[in-house]
Amino acid sequence: MIRAWLTGTVLMVSQTLHWAQALPCPPSIHGCSLDQEPVQVLSELPFIEVAPTTVQPYPVATGIYHTELERGGRPSIQPFPTEISYITFPNTPGLLHPSVPHLDVVPLVVSNLSTFCLYKGRPCGGIPHVAERSITDWDDTASSSVPLPSIATTSVPSPATSSSTAAPSGSSSFTSSTSTSASLPTSSSTPSSSSTSASSSGTCPQPTMATQDIFKPIATGAIPSNIRARDDHPLRNDHVVDTKGPISTNKFYANFFLGGQTNFTFTHPYSVAWARGNTSAKSHGLGISHVEADQLAMGEPNSKIPGNPARFYINPVGIHSIILSAVELGNSSILSVSKPLAFSTNVILQPQADSPSNITFPLVQGMGLVTGVYNNLQPAIQTTVFFRELVSAGSPKQGIFKYRVTLEDGKVWLVYVSPSDGADPKLQRVSNTLIQGPKNFKGTIQVGKNPGGDASEKVYDASAGVYATGATISGSVAVINSSGSYKLAWDKAGRNTDSTQLLMFALPHHVESFDECTQRNKKDLQLRTTTKGNATAYSGDSWTMVEADLPMSVGFAPWNPVTSTMASLSAAAKNMIKGVAPSELSQDINSQSDLDSTYFSGKAIGKFATLIYTVHELLQDPPLAATAFETLKTAFARFTKNEQRSPLVYDTVWKGVVSSASYTGDPGLDFGNTYYNDHHFHYGYFIYAAAIMGQLDKSWLDANKDWVNTLVRDAANSVPNDELFPFSRGFDWFHGHSWAKGLFESFDGKDQESTSEDTLFAYAIKMWGKTIGDASMQARGDLMLAILARTLRNYFLMDSKNVNHPKDFIANKVTGILFENKVDHATYFGANLEYIQGIHMLPLIPSSSYTRRKEFVKEEWDAMFASGASTPAERVEGGWRGVLFANLALIDPSASWDFFAQENFDLAWVDGGATRTWYLAFAAGLGGGPK
Ligand SMILES: *[C@@H]1O[C@H](CO)[C@@H](O)[C@H](O)[C@H]1NC(C)=O
Ligand SMILES: *[C@@H]1O[C@H](CO)[C@@H](O)[C@H](O)[C@H]1NC(C)=O
Ligand SMILES: *[C@@H]1O[C@H](CO)[C@@H](O)[C@H](O)[C@H]1NC(C)=O
Ligand SMILES: *[C@@H]1O[C@H](CO)[C@@H](O)[C@H](O)[C@H]1NC(C)=O
Ligand SMILES: *[C@@H]1O[C@H](CO)[C@@H](O)[C@H](O)[C@H]1NC(C)=O
Ligand SMILES: *[C@@H]1O[C@H](CO)[C@@H](O)[C@H](O)[C@H]1NC(C)=O
Repeated sequence: MIRAWLTGTVLMVSQTLHWAQALPCPPSIHGCSLDQEPVQVLSELPFIEVAPTTVQPYPVATGIYHTELERGGRPSIQPFPTEISYITFPNTPGLLHPSVPHLDVVPLVVSNLSTFCLYKGRPCGGIPHVAERSITDWDDTASSSVPLPSIATTSVPSPATSSSTAAPSGSSSFTSSTSTSASLPTSSSTPSSSSTSASSSGTCPQPTMATQDIFKPIATGAIPSNIRARDDHPLRNDHVVDTKGPISTNKFYANFFLGGQTNFTFTHPYSVAWARGNTSAKSHGLGISHVEADQLAMGEPNSKIPGNPARFYINPVGIHSIILSAVELGNSSILSVSKPLAFSTNVILQPQADSPSNITFPLVQGMGLVTGVYNNLQPAIQTTVFFRELVSAGSPKQGIFKYRVTLEDGKVWLVYVSPSDGADPKLQRVSNTLIQGPKNFKGTIQVGKNPGGDASEKVYDASAGVYATGATISGSVAVINSSGSYKLAWDKAGRNTDSTQLLMFALPHHVESFDECTQRNKKDLQLRTTTKGNATAYSGDSWTMVEADLPMSVGFAPWNPVTSTMASLSAAAKNMIKGVAPSELSQDINSQSDLDSTYFSGKAIGKFATLIYTVHELLQDPPLAATAFETLKTAFARFTKNEQRSPLVYDTVWKGVVSSASYTGDPGLDFGNTYYNDHHFHYGYFIYAAAIMGQLDKSWLDANKDWVNTLVRDAANSVPNDELFPFSRGFDWFHGHSWAKGLFESFDGKDQESTSEDTLFAYAIKMWGKTIGDASMQARGDLMLAILARTLRNYFLMDSKNVNHPKDFIANKVTGILFENKVDHATYFGANLEYIQGIHMLPLIPSSSYTRRKEFVKEEWDAMFASGASTPAERVEGGWRGVLFANLALIDPSASWDFFAQENFDLAWVDGGATRTWYLAFAAGLGGGPK
């Protein structure tokens, strides 16, 4: 019965598809013939059957559900080459096709009633690969109030025997568990600013004016002695080799050394993953993927938001268009990672653990071609999409052999082979899933996708043979005109490195800010990235980016971006605020900051520091703040003495300062701090508070400076050669923002939710640098804020002109959680609109008016929180109401003031991380309140 169906399928298809004859067949199936025998060594060659391209609704029945597409065929049948089934669950989080949840949450109950399967954009019946018994096995306690939308994809069916694999709870950014009204801290601001759009102003040679190097060491001393070293981090480092120094924990390639080592790494525009025998190609090489816009899966429209935007979009994972492998690789092959640095790493595949042969893949963000350096192995180039054609396309340069590969999805990939001995490698197409090269091959094989015919092929030709192996960053700020620049320069290797320039892909925010010299190297070649819009190819071995409008005049007081000045409050406003401050100053600072959460403790410390600053400086009443200030010093000392509930330890395995919470338990404790989640969020609050405290009392600094600098070094070290900490753990200088996810493997790569807490970190080091007289740190914070203003506008805070996300998504106004592979208008802690938008607002600080532009804030307000909108701010519950109204000060400070100044103000509208005092000062500083 099954067999009959398969055979029928093949026959049907073979009439319409010329290549069907070439398919290798499983021995059990008659009626199809091989044009060539599968190669012996690759005994695991897939059998491939072609499924019908039309999908009939399949009547749902009890037992195992599947679409017509896979009916009867599992486990041996493959869907039509690149077809992807998308499954969405309106009421529950998602399910990966096959059988694991795609979002980092466990589904509630998945039933046939609540699913919707799309195949090639058309509805199909059933739930692919979901056995009913495994549905009931799902733990439905795990994700109670998390109505994340979701989805699933991939072209790789596998038997759905296992019940779902739950992602670690709280595996990522910020809050993973519900917290009743959030707590927010912080400071001040002013009306919003226009973005700093790049002026590639004039000269490319080094500026002649005096500049400040932004990458001077923060400190070089030892870790404070009360932070004890531990060598028993709960996550062992099993796969990073050759690396004595610190390991970057939050960078793009971490999936290669975490968990099963098979999730994707996103270098943009390409994505790569270890195939590990699990794909339909049964390959053990490195799969390379590039996803087009029409392959995206979109979530359900959200009717609460004008424009009905899709609740998420996601790129299908698991398509291995080209796999760089070797005949010798098999199921005892191992993958190791070496030199895991800020912008690059090496991934090494060896046939066996002790084998002297290997393929080394230097992975660098933005790399123009994916390069495999073969050391004595026989190349096997494979695919899950099927080779339609392999054409030998000559030699663009001596010693480099080019091939043009057309896949069954019609896409063209270029393969450049540079043998060390210069001999023609004579690649052979063995079958429609295998191309083979010569035995004992030494040299490089490089792969790139060509979307555009001859012209773009020539762009690739020009840089074939060379590849980037790593990158260094430098940067400086010119105080005199508030501008800054930073430069990424790549090391390269390969053939003719002297005469051949690299080809690298730039993200939209790079392109906007390139200086003239870099801009000249633009090529007519673009490839879409997964979640950052189009990448554009540039030739050259370095890029220089300019930020012409740094927020250097931003201090601790609310800041007006139009005049670039700090606020001073009117006497009437001060009077009003003085009436409010005492009750907040008398809150219990000690107990509010003595929590078993580094994050919430830090927020409390930050909130009181802001309050004290407001009273001390903005209200000019130091005596009123004095008692609270002394108490705050005591509360802060609990942390510097390392006597908080989860003391910090220095982890000697990955190398960093982490909360001790998860050494004895769940990795999700303390929001995953022990596993390097969210350090910039957590430590940012302490650093910010310390900047204020040291500013108000210089004598406080002596005893506290080292401890605070240790946090800065951990979360955002400024140099690559510190033995104790990696360079810039959180902030990714290529992406221009931080990644919050630490040592958690993930389908969708790194992610970040709260952009406003990311900017708090940059602001905190700017101000801390200023307080302690570290001009380099201060300038670095200024430049990071300028870059963040740009990347937030491009990627996270989407005004109606945004072009970097799908049209159907941008009406959400904020991304929600931006992953490398999907964008999910959601949070880790709940689905209310005010949470999703608000976690990009809080804390409201002076630089908020710099990073949250007025145009954007107004669009978001009108669409969501205005009186006539779906979620009027005046009806939002709890502390989130205060967040929204504080944010309103960026565009309407008078209305914001009026809200916080109203007689019947309910303190429940101010969350545990903020004060009414500060919110009033913020609104007044931006122009609200009595004159
Ligand atoms: C859903 O599946 C159940 C069996 O588990 C079946 O009784 C019911 O009719 C199905 N519902 C629909 C709408 O197909
Ligand atoms: C992939 O295959 C390897 C064995 O080759 C196995 O150890 C691993 O668990 C598989 N991973 C997944 C995600 O199926
Ligand atoms: C490795 O592959 C061979 C051939 O496919 C298979 O027989 C063997 O069980 C596999 N070994 C492991 C450890 O998976
Ligand atoms: C990979 O092969 C190269 C060349 O033989 C060698 O230098 C390198 O050490 C190998 N790497 C590993 C991890 O074996
Ligand atoms: C990918 O990571 C997820 C966690 O997000 C994990 O559950 C899954 O097993 C991994 N999948 C593969 C193919 O390694
Ligand atoms: C991105 O590239 C695609 C394909 O070349 C093109 O259609 C689209 O307009 C580009 N988008 C932007 C914003 O440039």
